[in-house]
Amino acid sequence: MAPPVPADQYAARLRSEELRSELNYHNRQYYVLDSPVVSDADYDDLLNELRAIERQYPELITPDSPTQRVGAAPLATFEVVEHRLPLLSLGNCFSPEDLESWFRRARERAGKDDLMLVSEPKVDGLAMALVYEDGKFVQGATRGDGLRGENVTPNLATIASIPSLLRGKFPSRFEVRGEVYMTRSGFERMNEAIGEQNIAREQEGRKPLTLYANPRNAAAGSVRQKDPSITAGRPLAMFVYQLGWIEGGIRPPSHHETLQWLGEMGLPVNPDTHVHTSVEDALERIRWWGERRERLDYDIDGAVLKLDAVDLWDQLGVAGREPRWATAYKFPPQQRTTRLRKIEVNVGRTGVLTPFAVLEPVFVGGATVGLATLHNEGDIRRKDIREGDTVIVQRAGEVIPQVVAPVISLRTGSEVEFAMPAACPVCGTAVRQDPDEAATYCPNADCPAQVIRLIEHFGGRASMDIEGLGERTAIALYGAGLVRNVADIYELDAERLSRLDDFLVKAGGLSKTAENLLTGIEKSKTRPLANLLFALGIRHVGYETARLLAAQFGSLERLLAATEEEMQAIDGVGPVVAGSISEWIARPGNRAVVSRLIASGVDPRQEVTATRPGLLAGMTIVVTGTLETLSREAAEERIRDLGGKAGSSVSKRTTAVAAGTSPGSKLAKAQQLGIPVLDESTFLRLLEEGPSALPEPAMPKDDNA
Ligand code: IVH
Repeated sequence: MAPPVPADQYAARLRSEELRSELNYHNRQYYVLDSPVVSDADYDDLLNELRAIERQYPELITPDSPTQRVGAAPLATFEVVEHRLPLLSLGNCFSPEDLESWFRRARERAGKDDLMLVSEPKVDGLAMALVYEDGKFVQGATRGDGLRGENVTPNLATIASIPSLLRGKFPSRFEVRGEVYMTRSGFERMNEAIGEQNIAREQEGRKPLTLYANPRNAAAGSVRQKDPSITAGRPLAMFVYQLGWIEGGIRPPSHHETLQWLGEMGLPVNPDTHVHTSVEDALERIRWWGERRERLDYDIDGAVLKLDAVDLWDQLGVAGREPRWATAYKFPPQQRTTRLRKIEVNVGRTGVLTPFAVLEPVFVGGATVGLATLHNEGDIRRKDIREGDTVIVQRAGEVIPQVVAPVISLRTGSEVEFAMPAACPVCGTAVRQDPDEAATYCPNADCPAQVIRLIEHFGGRASMDIEGLGERTAIALYGAGLVRNVADIYELDAERLSRLDDFLVKAGGLSKTAENLLTGIEKSKTRPLANLLFALGIRHVGYETARLLAAQFGSLERLLAATEEEMQAIDGVGPVVAGSISEWIARPGNRAVVSRLIASGVDPRQEVTATRPGLLAGMTIVVTGTLETLSREAAEERIRDLGGKAGSSVSKRTTAVAAGTSPGSKLAKAQQLGIPVLDESTFLRLLEEGPSALPEPAMPKDDNA
């Protein structure tokens, strides 16, 4: 009888079997079917868990373990290419300490202290091996399982950055490896087009086309098309990062010289490649990429570090499927898969209902995310997102987390399609449909959600700019019954606030927030008229319309007395805006609010927001997408007012790009050129403060590689 297996080893064996089968399933979904059902980060977690078990119990390693292989065997549709040298994967580092210990081990094995490192961005695409014969591109293959890939030559031949003919001096036959990727701007355009097609398909009762979750999946799907003319229409590109086998030529002794040589042949080498003499130096570059990653027009999920001396590559060799002479430094993942528990609805300041996702909390983009935006009902329909779905969640940079797409293949049938509620979820009033904006809204102006949002909006920067009057304060003041409309704000005083039982009061008196609030309220009384008009939250009256109205009527009283015709006489004010203003004036209570504001000492300055001519002198700002507080024309006018130039296209001479929602290709261009991109609040700050509001300049590129 065999000796009994210790319980913990037995558990480890069961778990490793489970992990192997799960990982093999994901490998097939990812590499063969281009349809991953988990994010890369979730996959890495599983792989790391298996690695840890195998490290502790090496006897559990099987030859088919995903830790020993790369990817999955090719699909039958493409001809199989046997790679002469296996295409390897890379080990991962997640912290400076990880990188330091990798480098220490490399130095020990090399028996040398002064090793040079080369850093390259880790482009998130798919690995390819290209073969050139006498300078002609003759074969291109996917990585497959690392030993056998798929012949996708005709498809790769359609990619503009892959030269069909080399120039300069090249080996008679050789293989070069690199990453095929899709640009982010191209990906956005492509997915938008698919979304549009899906609306049409839905109407025709046809199955929707799958939206790609990210540029990498889109690139994989595009490269593995059976019809190369489809690939040709996809925005693909390539960077080469390694010389494979070579005949009729001499391999340069260092990696940076190899890259330089490949570049001289006309092959696309990433220009952002650097040589370092220390890990600290490499880490500085990695941090720089980490900060700049949002501005590139391609996804990077980290950086790759390689020893520069190529003779050490053979000496150090490979462990499992990972070379010891190279490693990947991974950035925090920006996409994760999780379950969408529920779709709930938020009621905005003007009553518009916006759906959002309640998620099983997930760590993504450096933060735990439990809520994510779903934009609007149309977007939910286009993406076919249902309650109960497993979904891909994305959080990149400062952008609000969003639900990218459902993982359709994981549906169980119990998922529930979303429908807008018939009654306001906050006050229960029957909702209405706004035919112009295709929005659903709650018509009850006293709806607590609307009032709280309005109080918050009233204190906002472009409104009365009241310090301390944020969401939390608005909720507290409304909840305590102290503020039920914006005029009540000016009746707040220390005595009233001190009666509260929350964060505004601390032992022995008012909290700092409450004190700031009272000072802020006092200071707000003399804000410009345009700010006050905007602050009132009249539907369709954005900041710029408020400016036009202020300039025309000069006082609140005169605006209240104006007819719709008089309003429409202003260039930029149409019937919708005029109608909305007179409806607001006619609504009971609003006139009283205005009288009370004036009685409390609110005395708006007539001049338009402090325009300081010359503040933006010498700057060219391009505005793109939809801004919330002002129209594009208005934004451009403000730029010109301040002595700046409002550019219509992005070039190297552009100082910054102000991007609202749905920005489009100008944003991509700015990212490509490394031009600062400002979100709306930073842009508004730029208009107030001038150049000091701009982000720090990017670190200059060095030319040592
Ligand atoms: S070197 C043995 N360099 O990352 C070296 N890989 O996680 C293998 N990748 O399979 C690759 N950018 O698809 C290398 N500059 C770069 C890279 C890069 C992206 C990908 C590649 C590789 C994967 C490993």
